[in-house]
Amino acid sequence: MLWRALHAIFLVTLLLFGSLGNSLPLGTSTRWIVDAASGHRVKLSCVNWAAHMQAMVAEGLDKKPLKDIAARVASLGFNCVRLTWATFMFTRKRYANVTVAQSLDSLGLREARMGIAENDPWLLNLTLVGAYEAVVNELGAQNLMVVLDNHVSKPQWCCGNGDGNGFFGDIYFDPEEWLLGLTIVAKRFKGKPQVVGMSMRNELRGPRQSEQDWYRYIRRGARKIHKVNPDVLVIVSGLNYDSDLSFLGRKPLGVDLDNKLMYEVHWYSFSGQQGEWKVQPLNRVCTNTIKRIDERVGFLAQGENPVPLFVSEFGVDQRGVNRADNRFLSCFLAFAAERDLDWAIWALQGSYYLRNGQAGFEETYGVLDIRWDHPRNPKFQERFGLIQEMIQDPSSLVPTYYIMYHPQSGRCVGVKGKDRPQASYCRKRSRWTHNGDGTPIRLMSTALCLKVIGDGLPVTLSTDCSGEQSTWKSVPSSNLQIAAMDGQGRYLCLEKSSSNSTTILTKKCLCLNDDSNCHVNPQTQWFKLIPSNLN
Ligand SMILES: *[C@@H]1O[C@H](CO)[C@@H](O)[C@H](O)[C@H]1NC(C)=O
Ligand SMILES: *[C@@H]1O[C@H](CO)[C@@H](O)[C@H](O)[C@H]1NC(C)=O
Ligand SMILES: *[C@@H]1O[C@H](CO)[C@@H](O)[C@H](O)[C@H]1NC(C)=O
Repeated sequence: MLWRALHAIFLVTLLLFGSLGNSLPLGTSTRWIVDAASGHRVKLSCVNWAAHMQAMVAEGLDKKPLKDIAARVASLGFNCVRLTWATFMFTRKRYANVTVAQSLDSLGLREARMGIAENDPWLLNLTLVGAYEAVVNELGAQNLMVVLDNHVSKPQWCCGNGDGNGFFGDIYFDPEEWLLGLTIVAKRFKGKPQVVGMSMRNELRGPRQSEQDWYRYIRRGARKIHKVNPDVLVIVSGLNYDSDLSFLGRKPLGVDLDNKLMYEVHWYSFSGQQGEWKVQPLNRVCTNTIKRIDERVGFLAQGENPVPLFVSEFGVDQRGVNRADNRFLSCFLAFAAERDLDWAIWALQGSYYLRNGQAGFEETYGVLDIRWDHPRNPKFQERFGLIQEMIQDPSSLVPTYYIMYHPQSGRCVGVKGKDRPQASYCRKRSRWTHNGDGTPIRLMSTALCLKVIGDGLPVTLSTDCSGEQSTWKSVPSSNLQIAAMDGQGRYLCLEKSSSNSTTILTKKCLCLNDDSNCHVNPQTQWFKLIPSNLN
């Protein structure tokens, strides 16, 4: 009997907790998200999955079965999903008993309905909330963590200044109803260990926004969620489309949630000055945008009482056809890797049941293609692989070394045997040491360091570590180019060959001295030394 009881307890424990790779719930410890019990860092590498649009059904279930989508999320290297929801789905009586089938029918979405009937017929007769919960359950069953993101009030595409969903008091955004929605969701998903956090509200914005109301309602909402469900991280967003929390530098939020409070920020190529990624010298644009992010939000993760910062949205046209996006992405990846930020890319969905009045609308920022078959960018994992990993672990005892990262390709510098250094897949990277400007870049635990041979020639490894060809400095205008001299007093920068995917050359430095007339793209030369202390 006793054995049986123990066995049952064991099975229940396994069901409740054993399915998740990470130990949950999570908490915060300085700027890191940690497993609240052990204090070990847990990094969120998430993808956004929309379930807040008019149909109020997680997108793509017409294209693939739920199980397959969740499995695909995991196989793409994510450990978490930021799953969006609309307030009205939980608060409005008229949606309370609406089924998935009824919702799709009411919008005339016959094909979507037929798709779901084929993939997951059991979903069709669930209520909208029931189907949302089924998605959360499946994500948990496949070891994925979930952040529930209150994306809009009225179910629709987000976000515009005048869409009535932007700020407390807008036509669809009644603060009391919002608080009720947060309470319902916090309660409903309490006890599901995979639900690690709640994003309080996506992209506050528009003419009504004010700091005064922000403090008033964000304080109430944060306390409310924490009271109802003290296990979840409460994720607070700022003004101006989730880009600005600078006012917290003058006046703290003043809410103590027992290490459950953190902040989020959104960052796209179009977040800053109009067209900046098209015109200015890129070294300066990248430096300036990082400075701007730090002034508005990043400072919260630094200084005396740092808290974690979650880049809960960033993204690019995954077809690679948007020049501004492409340039932005290299800057972002270097930044995200160096700080080892927690993040959620926009977005998983390759399509929407309905957007802008169009059935089957294609999402070009979607990680998956329109059929939800393959990554839209065949090199997705190569490009994003490094930032999906945990790079820094505050509790690690391993001394810090560097990863040499080339964000434009997503590759890392690696050495096979006694070969030349190569741009390898990051999982095959080497460890490097460097003591700052004017010192060699050494292959860790060897007598070998990087050495310039000449302009246009591959960089090599040498035991000559003291000559000018082997002492490197970062180029000050960007801190993204790394240069040494060529033996004749001229600086050459590391550059990844554009014709050969693995070759690393040294070449004349591009856009040195922040030259305003320099309009070439120096990103082939962007290498970042990323500190790491993981084994
Ligand atoms: C929804 O259905 C339940 C159970 O059938 C019922 O008790 C409830 O009144 C219905 N709610 C609404 C708003 O129709
Ligand atoms: C859903 O419910 C309808 C109406 O009650 C029923 O006719 C249909 O067979 C159900 N479909 C499934 C897949 O259970
Ligand atoms: C790239 O360069 C390496 C080393 O020189 C060479 O072995 C390889 O064949 C080249 N690859 C391509 C695609 O040209």
